Amino acid sequence: MDKRPVVFLDSGIGGIPYCREFAARNPGESVVYLADRRNFPYGGRSRGELLDILGALVPDLVSREDPKLVVLACNTASVSALSFLRERFPRLPFVGTVPAVKPALLGTKTGRIGVLGTDRTVRDPYIAELAAAYGAGSQVIPIAAPELVDFVEYRYALAGEEERRRVLIPYLERLRAAGADGLVLGCTHFLFLLEEFRREAAPDITVYESVEGITRRIESLLDEGGLRSAGLPFRRFYVRLSGGPEGDAPFPGPWESLARSLGFELEIL
Ligand code: DGL
Repeated sequence: MDKRPVVFLDSGIGGIPYCREFAARNPGESVVYLADRRNFPYGGRSRGELLDILGALVPDLVSREDPKLVVLACNTASVSALSFLRERFPRLPFVGTVPAVKPALLGTKTGRIGVLGTDRTVRDPYIAELAAAYGAGSQVIPIAAPELVDFVEYRYALAGEEERRRVLIPYLERLRAAGADGLVLGCTHFLFLLEEFRREAAPDITVYESVEGITRRIESLLDEGGLRSAGLPFRRFYVRLSGGPEGDAPFPGPWESLARSLGFELEIL
């Protein structure tokens, strides 16, 4: 029995779909979410900057929460810093979220898939390595979409159905023009638009994401490590604000109501 929390970490709200799924399926587990809005967006930062940011954030989390497992609920942080963090904190299990390129390459019939993510993620050699390993003869089309990250972080909650649909269309048009039949959502923020992506991509483009796969991975690490807890869990939502006028625009409405809608208690850092 291990009552320590599982911590989910992202630059903003992007990791929430993963955190929400895990919390719903594991009501006996304590869960902490950290939105590092002070350093948002991670996608425009260099690998070195991300190592500095995460190398400082993780020890802070460890002293605050003593987590039993940390989920980097952010593709950008995962492709850039996962191995560094594992080396630096060898006793702390980490789960990363990386674009689901492998299933998309195994599933493609046209031999072309797109990966939609931040600049940092789609340019990372990790994507090219996966392409070489599982996609001989196939083409991976990298599409950097920092404006879609901003849309989800700042605008999604206020946008109507038509606006949410409209923002996706240019990416899907580009993939259709290239003859792609698979789209990997390689940024956790895009999970907020999963339904819209699926609806607009059908019937010719399959959308790949990893919420269920990652949740199962966390669950099996807890099972295998004897790290399970049952009962009296707590749920905490930290947001690190920058103090800047626009950087802290609340979503959706005040941070307080976002945390409450998830059943988490808010603490501003
Ligand atoms: N949600 C993050 C990801 O999965 C990145 C967003 C950002 O901060 O640029 O890549």
